[in-house]
Amino acid sequence: MRFSSFVSMAVVAGASICAALPTDLTTFLLVTTSQLDTGRNTSELKAVYATSLYDPFHQPALLLRLIGPGYGSLPNFTLASGTLSTTAQGPFGSTMYVYNSTVVTAGQELQFLASAQPAGNLALDEGYLLTVDGEREGWTICEGALETDVLSWKGTAEDCVKTYLHAVREAPY
Ligand SMILES: *[C@@H]1O[C@H](CO)[C@@H](O)[C@H](O)[C@H]1NC(C)=O
Ligand SMILES: *[C@@H]1O[C@H](CO)[C@@H](O)[C@H](O)[C@H]1NC(C)=O
Ligand SMILES: *[C@@H]1O[C@H](CO)[C@@H](O)[C@H](O)[C@H]1NC(C)=O
Repeated sequence: MRFSSFVSMAVVAGASICAALPTDLTTFLLVTTSQLDTGRNTSELKAVYATSLYDPFHQPALLLRLIGPGYGSLPNFTLASGTLSTTAQGPFGSTMYVYNSTVVTAGQELQFLASAQPAGNLALDEGYLLTVDGEREGWTICEGALETDVLSWKGTAEDCVKTYLHAVREAPY
């Protein structure tokens, strides 16, 4: 059903197929890339990395880290009321919880808590580009604990590298 409506949309939209594709996403993966524009093939985004949830110290908040090939699975996200939601295991065992992103602030990691959150400040620009308060630029990859590359908003540490965050359907690798 979704596929056939996508096909008819693609036929009508013709050349704008690339822009139309991500708009159809209700659940998506998040990838980092140095490329602003969306791409037809996630694998071909510049400097693309898959992301995964990460709990460095059995702390309440999960973070998002970059993960290379060889992962088991990648988290799915949905976005509502400016807040990202995903499911993940709680810190003390195998029970799955819905984790919700907290309001994103400058200089802090993107964080997820297993509790209800107030309306957030995230949105998908043009259906694929994750923004904070409407700003497209500001995501940074910074070295976190245990030499892990962690996603933050406007990180200022010397090792932080700017990136874009894209919502995609397919894993890049
Ligand atoms: C996407 O690109 C990768 C790398 O260039 C290629 O191996 C893969 O077949 C492509 N996938 C599709 C669906 O075109
Ligand atoms: C993510 O969502 C897709 C499509 O709904 C589903 O096939 C897949 O099993 C989900 N993956 C996880 C880890 O929940
Ligand atoms: C996360 O937010 C959703 C939507 O507000 C809510 O239904 C869910 O209970 C929250 N997760 C937890 C563990 O409270």
